[in-house]
Amino acid sequence: MIDCDPAILTELERTAVQAGETAAEYIRRSSDKVLEIDYKGATDLVTEVDHNSEQIITDRIRTVYPHHQILAEESGWSALKSDYLWVIDPLDGTTNFVHGYPSYAVSIGIFFQRQPVVAVIVELPAGNTYTASVGKGAFCNGQSISVSRTTEMRKSLLVTGFGYHHGRKWEKNMGLFKHLTDITQGVRRLGAAAVDLAHVASGKADGFWEYDLHPWDTAAGLLLVTEAGGCISRFDGSAYSIFDDQILASNGLLHNILQEELERENQVNSRFGDG
Ligand code: IPD
Ligand code: CA
Ligand code: CA
Repeated sequence: MIDCDPAILTELERTAVQAGETAAEYIRRSSDKVLEIDYKGATDLVTEVDHNSEQIITDRIRTVYPHHQILAEESGWSALKSDYLWVIDPLDGTTNFVHGYPSYAVSIGIFFQRQPVVAVIVELPAGNTYTASVGKGAFCNGQSISVSRTTEMRKSLLVTGFGYHHGRKWEKNMGLFKHLTDITQGVRRLGAAAVDLAHVASGKADGFWEYDLHPWDTAAGLLLVTEAGGCISRFDGSAYSIFDDQILASNGLLHNILQEELERENQVNSRFGDG
């Protein structure tokens, strides 16, 4: 068990919720503005809203916790080393936001001595604030949430995502998408990994997998899913770190089956020469 004082956890969560909701409110107000769009890659968009949202969050953290370390998508690592690390996606689902497609979020995960201790995801435009603190369960707008009770793949609804780099793993995921669509009630692809994880935590989806996410995409969802009673691992069931290149999240009940399906399908793909 992590040795983090409960009063400290409460304060951390309060600050993360304030920062996340303030940034989310800013994003909401910006949603009908004409945006300046830059490209980090051919289809990897970033706007002034991403940068400003990040500034709102990091300003708040630096005011309350000036000695904590920060890893934020747009500005990278802060210079300070600390037992506390805040990992921030100031706008997850930028492409959706730019197009007005209603699935994007602010995501803030806090780690103490490398263990996840607090998670906040503010889902937009729905306006749902998902929170979790280690050992205290998971919540949506203050109401306790839990993962689904689905035990059969045939009755499950899954969600996945495809990153911006259209390489070997992207191709593999197309194969996985096809196979898992075939054996479930469907696979959704909404375009915001933090929202996908919040949907697993709240039982709307039974499982989620993706390749090549970044630490800020999953830092909050990781704790949210486990505190909601779910399971997170790499595809083969081994322990997941936010720096890994693959994540499998589920309600726990389907985890072994999902692992087997992902591994089997990956092996089939590998036989066709794509490793
Ligand atoms: C992206 C979203 C998307 C996932 C991409 C991420 P961004 O984050 O989470 O669902 O498939 O890999 O990069 O760029 O919108 O913050
Ligand atoms: Ca993201
Ligand atoms: Ca982002």
